[in-house]
Amino acid sequence: MREPEKYFLSYRQIHETVKDLAGRIEAAGFDPDVIVAIGTGGFIPARILKTFINKPVYAVGISYYGLDNVPTATPQTIQWIDEVERKLAGKRVLLVDEVDDSRVTLEYCLRELLSHRPKEVAVMVLHNKIKEKRGTLPEVIQHYFVGREMEDRWICYPWDAEDIATHEDQARATV
Ligand code: G4P
Ligand code: MG
Repeated sequence: MREPEKYFLSYRQIHETVKDLAGRIEAAGFDPDVIVAIGTGGFIPARILKTFINKPVYAVGISYYGLDNVPTATPQTIQWIDEVERKLAGKRVLLVDEVDDSRVTLEYCLRELLSHRPKEVAVMVLHNKIKEKRGTLPEVIQHYFVGREMEDRWICYPWDAEDIATHEDQARATV
């Protein structure tokens, strides 16, 4: 069968991937005190995760694209947790994003979080793209949970769809 050029994923597939991840996080013995979502792609996965791992969710906004949609040289901090030190110091943090692509945003965010002296930081992403990465996961990261390993193609998430009915049809046609 011909490989699809893009992956279309439905809300149901995303939900099932998060449920599977939650089971694996629990099985690995990682019990987070807080969930930190990287916006905006990590917001919906983090909220679904809260259904299975009911911990407070904080949001950070990091973007690799400027307002004109042109990639910027380094990730930009758009929003950060208030009183980070108090909220993260000594805590087990689970950092959530939708996709590990270049890994640059993830590395930037991990280094920022680690500077606030958490007890431990683990990473959860729905999808990891199999490709050469420009960013690296700091060595202290012991747990990196991936929902699905993906070929390096564009992933169309349901929250980006302007026409959700067509999107869901495409997702069904390309499973
Ligand atoms: P990474 O460190 O997590 O690997 O992310 P990277 O900086 O490489 O990603 C740059 C931006 O591109 C991110 O969005 C990421 O969500 C988005 N991206 C990368 N690959 C895909 C893909 O296949 N499909 C979609 N839909 N997005 C992808 P961002 O600039 O942080 O913004 P936001 O969309 O999360 O708000
Ligand atoms: Mg993102």
